[in-house]
Amino acid sequence: ETKSIYKIASIPADGIGPEVIEAGIAVLKAIAKKKGNFSLDFTEFDWSSDRYKKTGSYLPDNHLDTLRQFDAILFGAVGAPDVPDHISLWGLRLAICQPLQQYANVRRTRILPGTNSPLSNCKQGQLDWVIVRENSEGEYAGQGGRSHQGYEHEVATEVSIFTRVAVRRIARFAFQLAQSRPRKLLTYVTKSNAQRSGMVMWDEVINEVSKEFPDVTMDHMLVDAMTVRMVLHPESLDTIVATNLHADILSDLAAALAGSIGIAPTANLDPSRKNPSMFEPIHGSAFDITGMGIANPVATFWTAAEMLEWLGEKEAGEDLMKAVEAVCEAGIKTRDLGGSATTKEVTAAVVAEILRS
Ligand code: NAI
Ligand code: MG
Repeated sequence: ETKSIYKIASIPADGIGPEVIEAGIAVLKAIAKKKGNFSLDFTEFDWSSDRYKKTGSYLPDNHLDTLRQFDAILFGAVGAPDVPDHISLWGLRLAICQPLQQYANVRRTRILPGTNSPLSNCKQGQLDWVIVRENSEGEYAGQGGRSHQGYEHEVATEVSIFTRVAVRRIARFAFQLAQSRPRKLLTYVTKSNAQRSGMVMWDEVINEVSKEFPDVTMDHMLVDAMTVRMVLHPESLDTIVATNLHADILSDLAAALAGSIGIAPTANLDPSRKNPSMFEPIHGSAFDITGMGIANPVATFWTAAEMLEWLGEKEAGEDLMKAVEAVCEAGIKTRDLGGSATTKEVTAAVVAEILRS
């Protein structure tokens, strides 16, 4: 039997990014060792706000060619207190996932054992969602501009771009994902009452694509009403698809409802597999806790498990999540989950659980 070797580009970047990526690599190495049928070869890149402040650029000119040589990308977080957020986000994260056509952003949420939802009536198992976010266009297409900047009569535009091709491909992806889950239930979210062009096209395209998936039950929510349903009836939802902006907001809400932003994973996928996909925690660089050693590494562990599944190591991904759940259940949790463990203690416990079980 030949052993698969996966080449992983790691980009820890800013704030708590390096802390959680170090933790993520430790558990990935442990699971590869335990399984024995594959290995992971990590190459670290120093692309970050520090690099930007020194050289004027987050990325070298050839970053896409460089990244295309890898099987996957493990990303920390970008953002520094002394760099405007739109510069850091567009300079690094969007400069990777847009050109690499990682058009499907997948965000799973559930309540892990040993943790609590802030919803008092919501128990483990009653909140088990996967949010699919259109990740290539929409409100984050980057079309817009400012004229007469700083003057009284300044005008600024931020134009949303919706294409039939991109809506159709994300709809197909979401239906396939919904179909693969036991409930086969897809809720699509738009705002087609107030926004009468792009959002109405979304509704039309999704309804067309739904005909290819007669076994999937579909329903529709307006985004404002969706926030209410997520809070009051979490058990009524399973797979959710929405635009870049709407799903960005809904997935932060989802993470909070499941207990903490510190557990929530993200996969930025190119479903065509022409380009490597990128895996990252949902959270940002968290300046308020940087360097304190208390960042929750669970979001990075969960996204590492998603990465293994995408690479074809489904069993390793599932085993990794079982170890994370066992450690949560044993109460070894960071402060954001009501515990007192450090990043290193949680990481050591997960590594020990992987090697033990
Ligand atoms: P944030 O996610 O960094 O932090 C929000 C709150 O959650 C903070 O109180 C933080 O301490 C806490 N938190 C986040 N991750 C945690 C973890 N793993 N364990 C424990 N607590 C955690 O969001 P914020 O403060 O709005 O943004 C900080 C910077 O990060 C900004 O520059 C922002 O642009 C950037 N950002 C980057 C993202 C990315 O790289 N994908 C995503 C979101 C924000
Ligand atoms: Mg966000």
